[in-house]
Amino acid sequence: MQNKAVNLGLIGLGARAETLLVSLFGTRDVEVVAVCDLSAVAITKIKGIFAQNGRPAPADYQNHHDLLARDDVEAVIISTSWISHLPIATAAMKAGKYAAIEVGGASSTEELWQLVHASEQTGMPCMMLENICYARLELMIFNMVRQGLFGEIVHCEGGYEHEMRAHLVGGLDRGLERSLHNRCRNADLYPTHQLGPIAKILGINRGNRFLSLTSTASKARSLAGYARAHGVGDIVFNNGDVVTTVIKCAGGETIALTRSVTLPRPYSRHGRVQGTKGLWLEDANGIFIDGVSRTIEEIDAAGNPYTTHLWDAVESYSDRYEHPLWRDYKQNTIGGHAGADWLAIQAFLDAVRKKTTTPIDVYDCAAWMSVTCLSEQSIALGSMPVAFPDFTNGKWMKRQPAPVSKWALDAVHEECFR
Ligand SMILES: NC(=O)c1ccc[n+]([C@@H]2O[C@H](COP(=O)([O-])OP(=O)(O)OC[C@H]3O[C@@H](n4cnc5c(N)ncnc54)[C@H](O)[C@@H]3O)[C@@H](O)[C@H]2O)c1
Repeated sequence: MQNKAVNLGLIGLGARAETLLVSLFGTRDVEVVAVCDLSAVAITKIKGIFAQNGRPAPADYQNHHDLLARDDVEAVIISTSWISHLPIATAAMKAGKYAAIEVGGASSTEELWQLVHASEQTGMPCMMLENICYARLELMIFNMVRQGLFGEIVHCEGGYEHEMRAHLVGGLDRGLERSLHNRCRNADLYPTHQLGPIAKILGINRGNRFLSLTSTASKARSLAGYARAHGVGDIVFNNGDVVTTVIKCAGGETIALTRSVTLPRPYSRHGRVQGTKGLWLEDANGIFIDGVSRTIEEIDAAGNPYTTHLWDAVESYSDRYEHPLWRDYKQNTIGGHAGADWLAIQAFLDAVRKKTTTPIDVYDCAAWMSVTCLSEQSIALGSMPVAFPDFTNGKWMKRQPAPVSKWALDAVHEECFR
């Protein structure tokens, strides 16, 4: 059965919006009826992409308030920049629209409170389109966690480890906002790709919450050296090359996050989920489950017995533990990030159609994005612990379960796939 078409507005028409359009054009029951960007050049370019794909030309605006004033727009996707996501999402909810924001961190907890209050006062949801929450590997690990394979989870790690020197230095001239943040701030600027899936595993905002963090930044050498070597000049970048953040949760778990985007290295999300019965370690491509994975009993040179624990390849678990969302979808994925973008967008559209809350909600957005401004404070204070605000105002202890849905990220609802 075909779904009801959703009329969507798209705000922020840069490189990311172009990738998102591949997923949106690959979805039958959504119409992007209006677009908005401060730049007329960006609008012209995006309208060209609509024409190339045989799509009706959307209405265009240079001020998001004008787009939000349209009655026919039910929901907006905001892919502007880290400074503007939150005020635009707040305005969108106040205008009665479902809001989806692209990933990024917050500049202050104040703007996060405004987001939370707008959602609570209007009843309109706000979802972060955290595509990595829908990535195949992360969803399989989530499924294994919920089936108890790793026991009680004790510690998780994740990293945004992605060499971006050319992008960040090259972005200075064209006013790329990411470059500006790296010049002026010293923080974990991009925590959510790794933190989103971990937060869902740990039940953050539903029975658990982030309590406090400490953050430490290394010296900043790489971008300045790259800029000098490439004739861009002597430029000071404040953001440390490696930023390490440790979060303590109310449930007693710890989370270690690494941000490393300026030193040469292969891409990794540095995943680790460790519990009382075993762990997943992304960089070893390994899973070890106590009593299931192989061990070898040996005797050392002094005659003492010891046990060597061996990794199982992650793939050896996929037949049995693939998340049901990926069982068929993996044969024919659509759009960016190996198909994860498309799934995140479908999850948002499903909530818009059903008028339910979104699987990543406003409290998730606030908690995950607050890592950026809180890590900035901790680094400025010499790695002092900083407390997280409780954006739920106590509701995290006893919230209603999230809606039962195939898109749910708090539980795996097999019954929705039968
Ligand atoms: N989920 C992912 O995997 C992923 C990947 C890449 C980028 N992103 C995110 O997507 C967002 C956009 O990234 P990008 O690379 O397209 O950036 P970009 O700078 O290329 O594009 C941003 C666009 O937004 C416009 N804009 C800025 N402020 C605006 C405002 N107030 N109103 C209207 N338009 C405004 C700019 O003019 C620009 O055209 C960022 O938050 C980034 O972190 C996410």
